[in-house]
Amino acid sequence: MEIVEFSLTNIGRFSDIEIPLAPTDEKKSKVTVLVGNNGAGKTFLLKSLAISLSWFVARVRSEKGNGSSIPEDDIKNENNSAVIGVELLEAQGQAGNPDANIHNFIHFWSIAKTRTGRKSEQTSHLNGATKLAEYFRSQLSENEHASLPLIVFYPVERVVLDIPLKIRDKHSFQQLDGYDNALNQGVDFRRFFEWFREREDVENESGIPQEVYDKLYKSVGDDPELWQMLSAMHASSRDRQLTAVRTAISAFMPGFSNLRVSRKPRLIMTIDKHGESLNVGQLSQGEKSLMALVGDIARRLAMMNPALENPLHGEGIVLIDEVDLHLHPKWQRTLISRLTSTFPNCQFILTTHSPLVISDSKDVLCYLLDDGEISVVDDLYGLDANSVLLQVMDTDIRNAGVAMHLRALLNTIQDGELDKAKGLLAELSKDLPENNIELIKARLLLRKQELRHAQDR
Ligand SMILES: Nc1ncnc2c1ncn2[C@@H]1O[C@H](COP(=O)(O)OP(=O)(O)OP(=O)(O)O)[C@@H](O)[C@H]1O
Ligand SMILES: [Mg+2]
Repeated sequence: MEIVEFSLTNIGRFSDIEIPLAPTDEKKSKVTVLVGNNGAGKTFLLKSLAISLSWFVARVRSEKGNGSSIPEDDIKNENNSAVIGVELLEAQGQAGNPDANIHNFIHFWSIAKTRTGRKSEQTSHLNGATKLAEYFRSQLSENEHASLPLIVFYPVERVVLDIPLKIRDKHSFQQLDGYDNALNQGVDFRRFFEWFREREDVENESGIPQEVYDKLYKSVGDDPELWQMLSAMHASSRDRQLTAVRTAISAFMPGFSNLRVSRKPRLIMTIDKHGESLNVGQLSQGEKSLMALVGDIARRLAMMNPALENPLHGEGIVLIDEVDLHLHPKWQRTLISRLTSTFPNCQFILTTHSPLVISDSKDVLCYLLDDGEISVVDDLYGLDANSVLLQVMDTDIRNAGVAMHLRALLNTIQDGELDKAKGLLAELSKDLPENNIELIKARLLLRKQELRHAQDR
């Protein structure tokens, strides 16, 4: 299932725009990235999508369910009403029927909102959401293990502050609970913890407990045959849903493994980092937020695809605001490729302020937002971060004063005013570190010019 396009009328700073999302004919990936200055409207686009998708989710849960409505403050100032429209393609039924008309699988609906006390000019049309939800409800009625599409929005406020140290309640989790809080807060670490614990209980009941395996591994010694048999037994006793979450986290965070709930001396969530066991509360903010994000996507996919051999291959739509939040540049660079390889059947709509996120993935559809208008930015793949900052994000790549002095230095060298250049170089060397790449380049250039001048004499 994927969003083909969506449209906004009088929402935030947008009067009337239509935004097609990847995959498109030109951009085959399932990733759309929105960039733009502070206040450009990126969050508004994601929030609007979340509002429209909430109607589908509500109607999967129950026939006459109601989603969220557009807040009055979001209606563009000086306008009376606003509309969000969305068009989705659900091609599941298509597989068995290659002649079917693609339009049969397109579902459209729109949500409208009028200010209180004003005459309503627009109305909502929710038939598309109702029909699409009906399709999934009938699938579920036929087969209680049928897959549901993941729909989730991670707002900026997802930052994990509250990692529960202990949990009191025991919940039982249903497949539809995968939608819980999915469109208002995204990461729900408490639920994550509770769910993990419940699955581990099941895992431990149905197989040999982890502690016993640990002891067995130690006592097996060097016998490769016994080791292999034990490993195979261990793998088959693991819970598929937990395995999905652990795999996703290890794929994103190399060196991290074996996420688990330690039960003694108290109930805490533990993970191994390069072989050392840590309480998840001890992780850095970046580690926590990436683990919570990836773990949450994987958990929801696992809940919604109980019959899939690999639940990470479930379908879905994932909206993430400021996807680079707290992440080290190294992680930012590989983020999109890791998302698409770990969750290959999810459509991603992301916003970012980081040039690294968008310069490292092929086939990503990237939009630049500016003053209520939106334009496609092409071919960023392989560009260095500086070029992305200059071309797309409209930002100086270095401090303006330093940049001016460097330019003056290069001009004087090129003009052959070598004494003046030496003076400028000495000035700049006071401010910049010895190994600054631009200074090294300038020194080389100056040396070349000096040699040339000496030869000419
Ligand atoms: N009712 C409204 N009518 C007109 N413009 C509005 C309205 N509400 C908000 N805006 C505009 O929308 C902007 C906020 O948009 P949004 O939060 O989507 O920005 P953003 O691109 O996510 O920025 P950031 O990168 O800082 O998160 C405000 O700066 C304001 O200019
Ligand atoms: Mg924002």
